[in-house]
Amino acid sequence: MTAPLVLALPGNEPWAAALAGAIGAELGAMRVRRFPDGERYVRLDTPVAGRSVVLACTLRDPDEHVLALCFAAAAARDLGAARIGLVAPYLAYMRQDARFRPGEAITSVTFGALLSSVFDWLATVDPHLHRHHALAEVYRVPATAVSAAPAIADWVRREQPDALLVGPDEESAQWATAVAAAAGLPWVVLTKSRHGDRDVEITAPELAVWRDCTPVVVDDIVSTAGTMAAVVARLRAAGLRAPVCVGVHAVFAPGAAEALVAAGAARVVTCDTIPHPTNAIGVLPLLAPAVSTWARIATPQDAG
Ligand code: R5P
Repeated sequence: MTAPLVLALPGNEPWAAALAGAIGAELGAMRVRRFPDGERYVRLDTPVAGRSVVLACTLRDPDEHVLALCFAAAAARDLGAARIGLVAPYLAYMRQDARFRPGEAITSVTFGALLSSVFDWLATVDPHLHRHHALAEVYRVPATAVSAAPAIADWVRREQPDALLVGPDEESAQWATAVAAAAGLPWVVLTKSRHGDRDVEITAPELAVWRDCTPVVVDDIVSTAGTMAAVVARLRAAGLRAPVCVGVHAVFAPGAAEALVAAGAARVVTCDTIPHPTNAIGVLPLLAPAVSTWARIATPQDAG
């Protein structure tokens, strides 16, 4: 079988090149630009006929990227690609997973249906699974979710061996407990009430017993950083050391990382699922094997 072909959407070139190298794929070329009126132009420069094509696009700021991504996948299909997969280290629109108020759109489901209509498979890192328990509930195509927990645990073991892992809320417990178990460290999970996009309230059990540890707060997504900042304030009020904040996905609304440091975080680090100056934990070694498997699954063309 010909080697898979990796194509990077704009802004994803460095990690797409590293991914291609890690899975023994060819790195192809494509271009995306806007016409003067703002509509999208997409062109695949590397021939895709008969190839297993892997589109690389992390989905921070999804509205900016998803149409070009769909156009590229559709073009690859038209041009005879044998198989088309999406590697999105950050998968957007997973948090609106229910209708919390009358009339709301459940965007996780619609976004899943859209991507499932143009891709044959999907690989991502720690999608926000809470009310949906598996990607299969929203994606009709095979979808692999790789956990960043082993990479975060390695980092914590190395950089903060006196850590107490802290999950801000029930939703984050899956990351805090997995990292704690892998690193052999203690953990606590706090309770969050969200009153608005930037307004969260954190309550905690008795924390004084952990004063000799450094709190390492772990959450999947840091967006406004309102959650992390409230946790930092709560831990500091309990007399604990300045916390280290670890996010899987550095979504970060403008100024959020800086606000977190201003709130009293000793350090803010993230996994490299979204390029950001806080990236310190690499997930490619965890993601590459899944991508390699999906990209090499035999197609009818191979058999023929
Ligand atoms: C909750 O659903 C997620 O796990 C995160 O806690 C949340 O997205 C963080 O958002 P923000 O940084 O805006 O508080």
